[in-house]
Amino acid sequence: MRIVHKLSDLRRAVAGLRGDGAAVALVPTMGALHAGHMALVEAAQASGAKVVASIFVNPKQFGPTEDLARYPRPAEADTKLLTEHGCDLLWMPGVDEMYPAGFATNVSVSGVSDGLDGAARPGHFDGVATVVAKLFNQVRPDAAYFGEKDFQQLAVIRRMVADLDFGLEIVGVPTVRESDGLALSSRNAYLSADERARAVALPLALTAAKRATEAGERGAIPAAMASLAAAGFAIDYVELVDAATLGEPVPGRPRRLLAAARIGTTRLIDNLPVAASTNV
Ligand code: PAJ
Repeated sequence: MRIVHKLSDLRRAVAGLRGDGAAVALVPTMGALHAGHMALVEAAQASGAKVVASIFVNPKQFGPTEDLARYPRPAEADTKLLTEHGCDLLWMPGVDEMYPAGFATNVSVSGVSDGLDGAARPGHFDGVATVVAKLFNQVRPDAAYFGEKDFQQLAVIRRMVADLDFGLEIVGVPTVRESDGLALSSRNAYLSADERARAVALPLALTAAKRATEAGERGAIPAAMASLAAAGFAIDYVELVDAATLGEPVPGRPRRLLAAARIGTTRLIDNLPVAASTNV
């Protein structure tokens, strides 16, 4: 696997991959790679495309009190994992390459960015949309792969791509979980053994609330919040929304149940699909 750090090298390397007429798929990441990221690489490979992964811990999507400084950066292990998985090219720009002096543009997607994590993390989705727009322009892929784990992020990217005519396919990949149901996340590395044991309350609460909601029961969300609180989580939100707009659920349309909660100093997010119902 070739690794490039400069935009000029990236352009040449991507042109090389395209040489024999192959399609190019992009898997954007912030590194600290795990099986969830690898599921994106594998899905991209299964499409027959050459796969470009990017690793860039994007300062613009972290709030001033968030974990930018301590975000894990295991470059060697990441490179090894991508190589073992047969990734074709790794794009690893530095902060100065991505945001040279004078950088002044912000990509902001309204509506779908406003609630949930957008409300809990002001500016976060502007940072995501801005860096992903840059990555799309840098690599110019035919398709890009994102995890449903970050469901709102996926919706923001889909909106941006439609609105700005990026002309690439966005593919969402189901969440990869540990055997007890906890969604894989680079941030799970922050959890102590005790916090890790209690963290399973998040997927359990969502699963119970999904089942209850699909069975037409009321009060599923307060019950989920109570079980999260009992496990020691501080809750940012537990919300049932329309799966496409992330606004109010609409009768007859697929829904999504999303949650964000903090355990100790670690913030975890998760979400599950909830079937459509005629009487939302
Ligand atoms: P990061 O958190 O590294 O995630 C990179 C991609 O991996 C995202 O599309 C995310 O949804 C996906 N992913 C993470 N955990 C997953 C899991 N358990 N199962 C399936 N997919 C999973 O998301 C970002 O980085 C950044 O915001 C980025 C898009 C790279 C922009 O900076």
